[in-house]
Amino acid sequence: MEDRYGHRISYLRVSITDRCNERCRYCLPEEQQEWLPREDVLTYEEILRVIRVGAGLGISKIRVTGGEPLTRRNVLWFFEQLGRIEGIEDIGISTNGTLLARPANEGESLTVADQLRRCGVRTVNVSLDSLDRELYTRTTGRDFLPKAIEGIDAARAAGFDAIKMNSVLMRNQNEHELWDLIDFARERDLLLRFIELMPVSTTEMLTEENFLPIGEAKKLIEFKYGKLEPLPDFRTNGPASYYRLPETGQKIGFIGAMTNLHFCETCNKLRLTCEGKLRPCLGSHLEFDMRDVLRNPKMTDEDVARFFLDVVDRKPEQHEFRDNYQPGRRMIAIGG
Ligand code: 5AD
Ligand code: SF4
Repeated sequence: MEDRYGHRISYLRVSITDRCNERCRYCLPEEQQEWLPREDVLTYEEILRVIRVGAGLGISKIRVTGGEPLTRRNVLWFFEQLGRIEGIEDIGISTNGTLLARPANEGESLTVADQLRRCGVRTVNVSLDSLDRELYTRTTGRDFLPKAIEGIDAARAAGFDAIKMNSVLMRNQNEHELWDLIDFARERDLLLRFIELMPVSTTEMLTEENFLPIGEAKKLIEFKYGKLEPLPDFRTNGPASYYRLPETGQKIGFIGAMTNLHFCETCNKLRLTCEGKLRPCLGSHLEFDMRDVLRNPKMTDEDVARFFLDVVDRKPEQHEFRDNYQPGRRMIAIGG
């Protein structure tokens, strides 16, 4: 699948729930809204059908997100089915990590992380913005830092191909911790990426006071570690640019959604929200209701495929974050 601007679409980010056990300030608005009613959320069968049809159209990589995907019931069953879909070569999960160390089944020694690995999940992205328990609690609304670290260790024990650590940059918050985050990632062999705060859920978070551009973060890092060496040829599947720290050789990534003007050029992604909206871009209001198609008994897989192609055809050239974009939609509902 290719859009009008030459973006090759091979990657589908799938949100399986809008629920989460944390309350990150940049993901959820202050006034906690209600979760979606169960019947509005796609069933696992519906999601698997979308992925199967997508695989037939060239989707080869799936990232499962939420909310917190591991809060959904029977999630390991879903991963097991996902692992069997032909054409899907790469499965990842984005998680806050807090549930990874739990036993997969009551009284069992295998952890959720182990079981995900067995289902064929290759990479785990864990969100971790702070190693300071108090700041972590303030940012996420929950005192779960020890659980998140335990989860990371469970993921390491499970032997994934890669574990990435995502840290959202926040001025006056984790600005003073960048070095600690880097050391933590190196000690645990995690691929750390710093992400610029985006206006994806609430605009009130995205203020001069909170926003720390990656350009400044790089300077702070270079102050201690020396000149960052760009690695233009090292790419994972997403929009991060990677650099190497001179002494240790540690790689770190920067996701400059706001300040990198070339950010969208290599976009290969579509998103499926948990209530069945197919979104061609995180930073655009465009979304198309696939649920109606999925729940209409007259509609075949070919209709679903046509829907995919129509949405790809409407994919914008780039996001609208810099043009006064007003989210009006919670990140948690789009796929945090
Ligand atoms: N800006 C940047 N990143 C965000 N995330 C959630 N909300 C925002 C935001 N407003 C990140 C989470 C996680 C990833 C899935 O999305 O921290 O790392
Ligand atoms: Fe939950 Fe992730 Fe959103 Fe935080 S950013 S509230 S962990 S979905």
